[in-house]
Amino acid sequence: MLLTKEAFGDDFTWGVATAAYQIEGASRDDGKGLSIWDVFVQKKNKIFQNHHGDTACDFYHRYVDDLHLMASLHIPNYRFSISWSRILPGGVGEVNPRGIDFYNRLIDLCLELGITPWVTLYHWDLPHALETKGGWTNRDIKEWFGQYVSICVRHFGDRVKNWIVLNEPTVFTAAGYFFGVHAPGRKGLDNFLAAVHHTALSQAHGARVIKSLQKDSHVGTTFSCSHVEPYTMREKDVVAARKADTLLNRLFVEPLLGMGYPTAEIKVLNRVERYMKQHDEKDLIFDMDFVGVQNYTREVVRHATFVPFLQAKIVSARKRNVELTSMNWEVYPESLYHILKKFQAYDNIPPLIITENGAAFTDQVEYNQVEDPRRLNYIQQAIEQVFRAKQEGVAVKGYFVWTFLDNFEWAEGYHPRFGLVYVDFKSQQRIVKSSGHWYADFLK
Ligand code: GAL
Repeated sequence: MLLTKEAFGDDFTWGVATAAYQIEGASRDDGKGLSIWDVFVQKKNKIFQNHHGDTACDFYHRYVDDLHLMASLHIPNYRFSISWSRILPGGVGEVNPRGIDFYNRLIDLCLELGITPWVTLYHWDLPHALETKGGWTNRDIKEWFGQYVSICVRHFGDRVKNWIVLNEPTVFTAAGYFFGVHAPGRKGLDNFLAAVHHTALSQAHGARVIKSLQKDSHVGTTFSCSHVEPYTMREKDVVAARKADTLLNRLFVEPLLGMGYPTAEIKVLNRVERYMKQHDEKDLIFDMDFVGVQNYTREVVRHATFVPFLQAKIVSARKRNVELTSMNWEVYPESLYHILKKFQAYDNIPPLIITENGAAFTDQVEYNQVEDPRRLNYIQQAIEQVFRAKQEGVAVKGYFVWTFLDNFEWAEGYHPRFGLVYVDFKSQQRIVKSSGHWYADFLK
C-alpha cells in the first residue's frame, strides 16, 4: 500500500515529539533549578555508562537552527515539554524570568516558521526541591502542579492552544517509584500507589486548571500502551496477560473516564484506597479534548508464580527470537492498530492522537549521510496501521513521530537512537536521516 498524507484528511495532525530533559541540556543555566533527573544521573551505575543530560542535544542554545531544520522538513506540529524547574527553580514560589523567556522565544519562533506548538507540561523532570518533600508521593503535589500549570497557561496561553498534561504516568510512577530504575529512584508498593493516586488526581486537576484559564484550549494527556498477548492459550497465561494489560494499559485512563481504578483484575491495587479521600473518585474524572496514545511494541506475557502481586512476567522479545530494536523491543507496528481499537472501545473516549511512536536502531554515518531503512520501514508500516484503524472507524486525529533528534534516552543514555535527525553528540552536528527525508516528502 502506498499511502499519502491526503488519505488521512486535512484535519489530521502530523508532527514530531521531544522532551525537555532529553534534548535541552543547559541543565544549570540561566537560573534553572535542579530536577530529579539532574540528580539521578549523578548516581553511579543508574544510567548506561553513566551518561547524563547535562548537555544532551544542547537544544537550549541551538533551538533556532533546530527549528529551522524542522521547518525545512515540512513538519507542521511540534510537541515539546516545558522543564518545570526552569520555570520554577524551587518547584513552587518564585518564577524564573529567564526560563519563561526561553519558552517564549521557542514558541514565537515555532509560530513564525508555521509550526504549531503542542506543549507537554510534565515529561518526568520534577523539580528536585519537590522530591525532597516526597514528590509524587505527597498529596500536596496536586496543588504544586496546579500552580505550575497556571503559570504556564498565563505566560504562554496567548499563543499555545494544545496542551498535554502528563507524559506516560504509568511509566514514570512504575519506573521512578516502584522499580527505582528512573528518577527519583524510589522503590516499593507504597511509594508506587501513593504516586499513582496523586498523579491521577493531578492529571485531572491540571486539565481543569487549563480549561478554567483558557476556554478555547485543546487539552489532553498521554498514555504509554502496549498490545498484550498471552504466551500460550493456557488459562494461567491468559490470566497473567490480562493482569499485565491492566497495569500497562488501563491504570490511568479508566479513573479519568470515570470507571475508577481497575482493581478487579489486580487485587493489590485496592490498597490505593489508603491514599484516597472523600470525593477523590469524582475528582479523578475529566473530559479531555483528546487522549494521546504512545506505542512502541507489543508484550507477550506468561504466568509466573514467584512474581509478587502479579504472578505474571513478560517473555522478552529476545527469547522469542523476533526482530529487535536497540531497546530490545520487538519490531511490531501492528501493535498500534490493536491499541487504537482497544482505546476506541471505551464508551466515552475522546478522539485519539498518537503522541509518540518510533523505533531505535543503530545508525551509521557514511559520506555525511545516514541511511536508516529499518526506521523508515517501521514508521511507514506504523502509519499504515493507523490508517487501517481509521478506516475501521477509530477516531484517530493525529500522529507524532518519536523523535526529532537522537537524544538522551533515560536509563539507556545516548545508546538508542530514535531520531529522524542524527546527532553527533561530540560536535553537535545534525544530519537528516533517510527516514527524516522520507517523512518530509510524505508531509510536503
Ligand atoms: C517514551 C517516553 C519518551 C521516549 C520514548 C522512547 O516512554 O515518553 O520520552 O523515551 O519512550 O523510549
